[in-house]
Amino acid sequence: MSNDCKKFYVTTPIYYVTAAPHLGSLYSTLLADVAARYHKIAGQEVFFLTGTDEHGQKIAQAAEKVGLHPKEFTDSFIESYKSVWSKYEIAYDYFIRTTDTAHIQAVQTWLQRLLDQGDIYKGSYQGWYCTPCESFVTEKDSIPVEQGQALVCPDCHRATGQVLESCYFFKLSAYQDRLLDFYENNPHFITPKERMAEIVNFVKSGLKDLSISRTTISWGIPFPGDDAHVTYVWADALNNYITAVGYGDDARADELAKWWPADLQIMGKDIVRFHAIYWPAFLMASGLAMPKKLLVHGWIKVADQKMSKSLGNAVDPMQLAADYGVDEIRYYLTRKMAITQDSEFKFEDIEQSINSELANAFGNLLNRMATLVVKNDATNLNAPAVWSQSSLELQNQCKALVLDVEQLVSDGMFYRAVARIWDYINLVNAYFHEHEPWKIVKHDRAQFLEIMSAAAHSLQVIGVLLWPVMPDKMEIMLVSLGCPFDRHKNYMKEFASMSWKNSFIIQQIATLFTKSEIKKEDIVQTTPIDHKHEQKVEQVAVVQESKPAAIENDQKEFIGIEDFAKLDLRIGTIVACEIVTGSDKLVKSQVDFGDLGMRQVLSGIRKAYSPENLVGKQALFVVNLKPRKMMGHDSQGMMLLALDEIAGLQLMSPVGHVKSGSKVG
Ligand code: MSP
Repeated sequence: MSNDCKKFYVTTPIYYVTAAPHLGSLYSTLLADVAARYHKIAGQEVFFLTGTDEHGQKIAQAAEKVGLHPKEFTDSFIESYKSVWSKYEIAYDYFIRTTDTAHIQAVQTWLQRLLDQGDIYKGSYQGWYCTPCESFVTEKDSIPVEQGQALVCPDCHRATGQVLESCYFFKLSAYQDRLLDFYENNPHFITPKERMAEIVNFVKSGLKDLSISRTTISWGIPFPGDDAHVTYVWADALNNYITAVGYGDDARADELAKWWPADLQIMGKDIVRFHAIYWPAFLMASGLAMPKKLLVHGWIKVADQKMSKSLGNAVDPMQLAADYGVDEIRYYLTRKMAITQDSEFKFEDIEQSINSELANAFGNLLNRMATLVVKNDATNLNAPAVWSQSSLELQNQCKALVLDVEQLVSDGMFYRAVARIWDYINLVNAYFHEHEPWKIVKHDRAQFLEIMSAAAHSLQVIGVLLWPVMPDKMEIMLVSLGCPFDRHKNYMKEFASMSWKNSFIIQQIATLFTKSEIKKEDIVQTTPIDHKHEQKVEQVAVVQESKPAAIENDQKEFIGIEDFAKLDLRIGTIVACEIVTGSDKLVKSQVDFGDLGMRQVLSGIRKAYSPENLVGKQALFVVNLKPRKMMGHDSQGMMLLALDEIAGLQLMSPVGHVKSGSKVG
């Protein structure tokens, strides 16, 4: 989130409009909204683009089925997109439709320029075509099939059909070397970086020219000077990112210069190839700069399958908002769906997030502070002239939080930024409990006021840092602290150097987050988690409750400090995690150990934690155990856990966030 650049241009993919949006479509859009808002609180001018992809055979066929013209068909869904976005407070600046006249004309201008300079030429193409995905499938990409059988699309797993047609080609092959140079010089172009490696390998294996027109369909943008051809959807759709900011219209040249290149382009993993190869090549041919970053997210899954309209397992965002609340679902999606990997959608997890994180950890903190100041006639809070050591430590942690959030946001790791904010909430709760202000008020009013002021300063920072995720609730909370949210402030700068000296006028408000009752059958959980019956777990060190009185007798064998010193214990941050296929116990985590680098660790904790709930968490590890292989996977460390008979296995995380790789001893 660098402040060197004053503008921030963020895009979502444009959605195929064959039905109303589902939770998966909301996820891409929500990430862009969260990104846009984080850059707003860093004082940047933001342009946030979303829209709909309305041409192509898939849409023409769906329209035909219901007896509508494709345009009438797509028109009928636009309102449902706009109303879901508005319900979820998606503050986009422009909603582009590929059927907009301005877009059509700009794409035609683009085609003509590339035809004139020889980057587009006419030829003919024979190949396997996947109609639902609007893309050609080669043998190399196909799911393996018997000799002579139709190839199968690697994305949707449907059989493709043969087509032979005259078509226009984009000279993609001519850009292979420039693309590889670009990737090499811009190693952070794609997040997460594992996707970059896939793209580089794909390009290295050889690029063929790209067919960008069709004669077999008519629902598309006509090719300039050759009406028999319409533009193949990706050459039409990808260009929305530049046509929306004025490409092709000389009168809007300043606008294009102001906003392009995009700073962040968000998309699901299924369409990364189009954005990371074709799109940069189109831009190179057009003489335009490359987008700064592509953020590629995983899928929301239901019972291990991608949530999608065609599979019939899509969850309706409107219903979720009605059942749980908009900000609660925004929080759940931002925090619990790890961007770097697929995540399972679970009603149970929504309820757990609302109850234990939003209502208990956060809502209660605000409520307790407000109740105490109201009860003790201290609603007008001023900062003390001198802060005590423990409050100064909280202040320092608060500054560290702001810097960490800034970094995580600029890396596109929003789920980790939110987890980091929660570490700080836990720290403020610990500070509050440790000082017991409800007792202190009886004998030391000055100290009581200091604790309340420290809580209010912390809550202000938390409120602003969570505003991008839960804008409505955080605005309400900030009003209740007497410091209403100011859209024009560069909060990130202010908070990073702020010493606490604000005044607050606290009002008590209705409960910010209402606990959720179990409302839904968990439609996705196939193997129930039974913590109580957890007995023994492979490769898990169990920390027993100590019994101080009987220690001499019970302890079988003592070790000397020199034995203990042999252990290298560290705090690691879990950045990605997945189940190990074929094992019902093991999960495989990629753990960040700071200076020690990233390591892969296998742990037998699948029954206690699902992978998506581990991502973003910090835990305790032994890092100098001899590496070993488990079910064919290397494990380069051991996660330590506590075992409680009722609560089951529990991660051992530090109370406050610490630097990845911090030593423990
Ligand atoms: N029209 C193209 C994009 C063109 S962009 C120039 C398209 N549309 S889509 O409607 O099929 O998908 C749009 C986005 O929604 C993609 O980023 C896709 O990954 C995302 N999602 C659709 N289902 C999803 C989940 N179940 N989970 C998360 N996101 C998924 O592709």
